[in-house]
This record gives sequence, structure tokens and C-alpha cells, in this order.
Amino acid sequence: MTDSPKTAKLTFGDKELELPIHSPSVGPDVIDIRKLYAQGDVFTYDPGFTSTAACDSTITFIDGFKGELLHRGYPIDQLAGKSHYLEVCFLLLYGELPSAQDLEDFETRVTNHTMLHEQMMNFFRGFRRDAHPMAIMTGVVGAMSAFYHDSTDIKDEWQREVASIRLIAKMPTIAAYAYKYHVGQPFVYPRNDLDYASNFLRMCFAVPAEDYEVNPILARAMDRIFTLHADHEQNASTSTVRLAGSSGANPFACIAAGIACLWGPAHGGANQACLEMLEEIGSVDRIPEFIARAKDKDDPFRLMGFGHRVYKNHDPRATVMKESADEVLELLGVGSNPKLQVAKELERIALEDPYFKDKKLFPNVDFYSGIILEAMGFPTSMFTPIFALSRTVGWIAQWKEMIGDPTQKIGRPRQLYKGETLRDYVDVEDR
Ligand code: SDX
Repeated sequence: MTDSPKTAKLTFGDKELELPIHSPSVGPDVIDIRKLYAQGDVFTYDPGFTSTAACDSTITFIDGFKGELLHRGYPIDQLAGKSHYLEVCFLLLYGELPSAQDLEDFETRVTNHTMLHEQMMNFFRGFRRDAHPMAIMTGVVGAMSAFYHDSTDIKDEWQREVASIRLIAKMPTIAAYAYKYHVGQPFVYPRNDLDYASNFLRMCFAVPAEDYEVNPILARAMDRIFTLHADHEQNASTSTVRLAGSSGANPFACIAAGIACLWGPAHGGANQACLEMLEEIGSVDRIPEFIARAKDKDDPFRLMGFGHRVYKNHDPRATVMKESADEVLELLGVGSNPKLQVAKELERIALEDPYFKDKKLFPNVDFYSGIILEAMGFPTSMFTPIFALSRTVGWIAQWKEMIGDPTQKIGRPRQLYKGETLRDYVDVEDR
């Protein structure tokens, strides 16, 4: 006998509604409210979407209380420890770990798309030298739809596939070129004999005046940063990509929208904001002053790199990222870098302080990624572009999943209107 479908009874005023309940493969049940307005003439109200599922998905699952992050069922610590970014890209895009041959084919396809159309260089030169690299990335990625017309028709599965590979392949080149333009050095072209992370490091740090050897420990740490940032359920920037895509916008425009959203300091901009906070703290003896500010309800100051909307015990990515941070600092040394010394002491204090323990405010992924990138020599303005580069595959996988859903509709939330009710226009002489 099959279980009768679960329903939720909603009683208000003279109405009693039965709403279907759907069960996931793992996680909380959802109450289906799609017919609530038609049947009950009411909306639900959830401005931060704290309790709202905006879609169903098979890509990533987060258990905020267990501190678990699964990509197609595989835990992030295993993927970060045993896999590598392009294999995780394949997993996110196609749902299964690749065979050795499929992985080689995929990596070859990505490698062969890493160069930019030469005329796109003009876009970089149109920016001021001190332009924030995220402004450049938002502009250049959006402009890709003006260059790659043969992969903008979202109804054509092959074009969707080509656009996906192009975006994954070209993001490191675009991010590296944004950095080179920012520091006034010549662009360094990608090389097909380097792996994805090594290629990016070389495009960022090589100069024509001398040979550049990629340090394998740094390349591994870079690849791990890419992997740990690849996808994260329906976070703000992914939801932005899905909403933009729901209107039928081309993939380049949707990813540019995701980059713009990620830039915010409450989201992907937190790694830059975290290092700027460490710089503002300046020395270990000033940490108590900032801890007090973070606790002060009247002070908007937050400890950047701490806390999370979903994780309420620990961010599993931060656990893995911390290992990489320790490896890189060991290799490069904390030395006299005050920001890194402050970071280590702030982490120790925050993890022991009852306020932060009670509020579950632990270091998140952005805290440690900022430390690694700082130690590698990236300016803080490059931290979020690297996050955007990493998250591109997650945005694309979620976008493809949405576009491929035959029931997909344009996203159009409603509102709780608190403005003026109907009133007549008053001529200026009568006001
Ligand atoms: C990312 O969604 C994702 O998945 C995002 C991300 C991804 O991979 O896509 O994981 C990437 O964005 C990580 C988060 C990076 N952001 C930061 O590090 C910025 C600092 N963190 C805070 O802004 C905050 O913790 C958020 C935005 C991350 C989460 O905010 P919530 O869940 O909406 O929590 P809240 O703002 O309602 O705060 C709850 C309480 C408040 O105190 P009370 O009003 O209950 O007394 O905790 C306090 C806040 O004051 N609080 C903090 C704090 N974060 C929350 N207090 C001090 N410092 C902080 N960092």
C-alpha cells in the first residue's frame, strides 16, 4: 500500500486549505504553496528566503547543522582531498564522476577554449587602471555575448554546452587579464601544457622578462580554493543567475549578473572585506576592541569572514581550507605579515569567545581563502574575482538544470505592499 500523499492543513479566517508536502532525498520536507494565492487569496512572506525553496535541484546539498556539503552526493572534504577542480566541474555539470577517458576529453575541451578573442583585449583597455577587477569581470563576461553569438541560443542544447565550456575555460584568463591590466603588466596568454590552476597562477604572476615556474604546493592550494568555491546550493549569486536565466537571457548575461551579485561584502566580497578588516585591526593588541564592536548591537560592524546563513556549526569548506592555509603559510611563512598574524589570533579568540560560540559565528570559507590568497601575493581586490572564477561552474550547472526543466517559469516574486492606497493627482498650485 502506498503512503497517502502528505499534506499540510492551513486554516485562517473562513478558509481551510490542504497544501501538498513534497519529501526530498535528504533534508527538510517542503510545503507546496504554488496554489496558495489562487485558493487562499494570500501570499507567503519571506524576504530573505530563509524558509523558502525556490526550486528543486539534484546538484548540491548542505546540512547546515551537521556542517555537511555534498556535490551530487559526494562530500566536499573527499572531493577536496581526492579530486581536482576540473573533475568536480564534470561532476557538477553531468552528475557523475567521469571515466578516465571522459575526464581527459573534458579537460582537453576546456584547455582548447582558454584563449580570449583577441579583439576582447580592447574591453580591458577601456577601463581605468584602478578599476576594481570585479567591475572588469562583470563587463567583459557580459560582453562575451557580443563575441560568441554561436553559443547564445539557450534553446539549442549544443550551444548551451559550448557556452558552458567557454565560460569555465575563459574565466581564469579574464580574471588574470583584469589583474595584469590593474598592475600595468602585459597580458600573459594561457598555455595548453599547464593544468587549470597552474595556468591561472602563471597568467597572473609570469612576466615576459623571465621564466616562471609554478610552485606545485601553490597550484594545489589554488585548485583546492577553486574546488571549495565551486557550488553552494541557492546562495544569493546562484539565485541571481537562476532568476536572470528564467527570463531567457543568454548564459553570458546570466553569469555576469551572478558576478555582480557575488561582489557584495555580505557574500563573495567577504574575503576581500575580511583582509581589509585585518588591515584595519592592524595588530594583535587591537583585536579585543573589534571583538567588542562585533558584539555591540548599536555598531553595524561585523567580523568579516565569520558566520553563515546556512552553516550553524562549522563550514566544512573552511575546515579543508584551513589545512591549505597552514600548508601555504608553512611554505611562504607568516613572517612579518601583520594581517596574517592578526588572522591567526582572531581565529583563536573568536573560536573561544562564548558570544561567537553561542551565535555559531565561526570562520567561514572566506576567512581562510583570504589568508591563502594574501600569502600568495594576490591583492585583496583579486579575491572576489577568484571566487567568481571558481563559482562559474556552479552557476552554469544550476542554470542548465533550470533551463532543462520543462516546468520552468519566469521568476516573479510578489510583495507585502505598505505604500499609499489609491489617491488622485494634485496640481502643483494646489499642493
Ligand atoms: C558566503 O549563502 C552562501 O552559501 C554564501 C557562500 C557561498 O559559498 O555562496 O557560503 C559564500 O557568502 C559566505 C559568507 C560570507 N560573508 C561574511 O563573512 C560576512 C560576515 N558574515 C555576516 O554578514 C553574516 O554572518 C552572514 C551574512 C554571512 C549571514 O547572515 P545571517 O544568517 O543572515 O545572520 P544574521 O545577519 O541575521 O545574524 C544573526 C546574528 C545577528 O545577531 P542578533 O541580531 O541575532 O543578535 O548573528 C550576528 C548578527 O548580529 N552576526 C554577526 C556576524 N554574522 C552574524 N556578528 C558579528 N560578526 C558577524 N560576522
